[in-house]
Amino acid sequence: MEDEEFYYPSQDIIDHANVKEYDDLYKYSVEHREEFWAEQAENLNWYKKWDNVLDKSNPPFFKWFEGAKTNIILNAIDRHLLTPTRNKLAIIWEGEPGDLRTFSYHALNREVCQFANILKSMGVKKGDVVTIYMPQIPEQIFAMLACAKIGAAHSVVYGGFSSEALADRINDANSKVVITADGGYRRGKVIELKGIVNKAMELSPTMEICITVKRTGLDVYMENDRDYWYHDLKALPNASHKCETEQMDSNDMLFLLYTSGSTGKPKALVHTHGGYSVYTSTTHKMVFDLKPEDRFWCAADPGWITGHSYIVYGPLINGSTIFMYEGAPNHPYPDRWWKMIDKYGINILYTSPTAIRGLMRFGESWPARHDISSLRMLGSVGEPINPEAWKWYHRVIGNDKCPIMDTWWQTETGGFMISPLPVTPLKPGSATKPFFGNEMAVVDDNGNEVNVGEEGLLVIKSPWPGLAAGVYRDPERFIETYWKKYQKQGWYLTGDSAKKDEDGYYWIIGRTDDVIKVSGYRLGTAEIESAMISHPAIVESAAIAIPHALKGNAIHVFAVLYKDYHASHELEMELINHVVLHLGPIARPDEVKFIDSLPKTRSGKIMRRLLKARLLGLPEGDLSTLEE
Ligand code: WT7
Repeated sequence: MEDEEFYYPSQDIIDHANVKEYDDLYKYSVEHREEFWAEQAENLNWYKKWDNVLDKSNPPFFKWFEGAKTNIILNAIDRHLLTPTRNKLAIIWEGEPGDLRTFSYHALNREVCQFANILKSMGVKKGDVVTIYMPQIPEQIFAMLACAKIGAAHSVVYGGFSSEALADRINDANSKVVITADGGYRRGKVIELKGIVNKAMELSPTMEICITVKRTGLDVYMENDRDYWYHDLKALPNASHKCETEQMDSNDMLFLLYTSGSTGKPKALVHTHGGYSVYTSTTHKMVFDLKPEDRFWCAADPGWITGHSYIVYGPLINGSTIFMYEGAPNHPYPDRWWKMIDKYGINILYTSPTAIRGLMRFGESWPARHDISSLRMLGSVGEPINPEAWKWYHRVIGNDKCPIMDTWWQTETGGFMISPLPVTPLKPGSATKPFFGNEMAVVDDNGNEVNVGEEGLLVIKSPWPGLAAGVYRDPERFIETYWKKYQKQGWYLTGDSAKKDEDGYYWIIGRTDDVIKVSGYRLGTAEIESAMISHPAIVESAAIAIPHALKGNAIHVFAVLYKDYHASHELEMELINHVVLHLGPIARPDEVKFIDSLPKTRSGKIMRRLLKARLLGLPEGDLSTLEE
């Protein structure tokens, strides 16, 4: 890492950058953190301004802009209707079959108001949780914004999760209303969604109403007094295009988002209106150097935090034009993305290392067929990007002129925590330096900073406005997971290991807990293992991550069989499908290995580290705690 050469931004990028300098502003932002964030908050509208920028009287439950009245919709839509932005495109959307829909801010407001009125007529009230399980269509965004507008919290569940995973999330949130679509398009096929929701509803005692958007025309089962077509509800007289935005406290809940951790079932992180509005819009504008005329494409799914913060909220607050695409990057051919960048003149592309590696595999001739010179900035997120993929992205897609913003952050952090700015000299594979206001460090178990170039645990030492307010209805779990280890110091434990180099650049290595990142998706070993054990053949099991050229990591599972069962290829396939059925296709193990017993510590913890070392043929390390 020491001999990595720097990539410097062009003079043109520097001349036009929204933020022209890092060091002095960073120094100011950490020495005057509350002033810095108050200045950013002044760029937004508020029904009533705050009494207190930051209430830190009850850590780790920090309250930003305390006493303020706002609603994220006030800034994401309402204020734009009073300026020329009203007639600007908010959304350009292309479906996989090639259909195109566009919405100006004016049109977006009409859609969101109408959806909000429909939710109200279904009895949804401020503080309720509405579950959204949809393909990538504009209605997914309308549904999220409609919830926010009336003060209900949305809980978006990624459309690739199974009915069981969906039901778990519906039940944990006590959600009564779910919004879905009949299906969506992916790789030329129709993906059935309503059928999955129907199964989930059977597993859920709380679910009362399901609103279904017609996307594919698939034949679906609808039940009287439970199921409603969205287009039918839109036609009713109470579904007007006008709706007041609900005034919320800055620290009122905006959404829940489930994510995997080391133990147990996925937990819901809670994000709130005020701090999250300020954090997502500031990071988006500064890091991606947003200009009013830009067309911004974040190619994530709105079902993840990346989509929440940088498809929906950050860009809309900044009055940007966002591009959204429904389907697979290689459908019908591997040039689909480049073709759309050319067609719509997209200026900024933000995606994951897995997507970049996947497209790289098809070769340079595919992007070369299109004029993608409209691109000015590129971004990467979700997992460490290997220097080869970084360089390909920079040279082939960015034509050696687009800086790559490698943004490190998490569901919990709400927005970018470590990231370059357009003016930052880049090193391929490093997310560079902390964003303004954030103090971070790489430390050992006792909290001492490790030496330059040494691996340690990544911690965040100071509060920031994007930090989640907690785990939904489980304050203990929030403390336990993120704050217990460095309670004395009051630091946030990220769960990642990292190194810091002699230039102060951060290099993220990966998760240190029992979380696996597959293609940038976050999964817990505990979830995979409990899916395995629900199969009658399995006594116990251990899931580990093995490096994979395309996906970053692949899931490998070790399984101990009950004595009446015998190891076979058929049983391995059956178990792999069993995990997919329980969790969804993103959790598919590459392999199940049968083993007589799992290595454990004397206190009974499975030694996944040892299983991994054995599988990879690496040194087994310290085995003093192993129970034989
Ligand atoms: C974990 C968080 C934040 C949006 C998507 C993921 C890994 C994220 C990077 C990056 C290296 C990264 C970390 C982190 N990660 N971005 N730029 N470089 N690793 O959100 O699902 O909550 O996952 O993703 O391991 O802890 P998430």
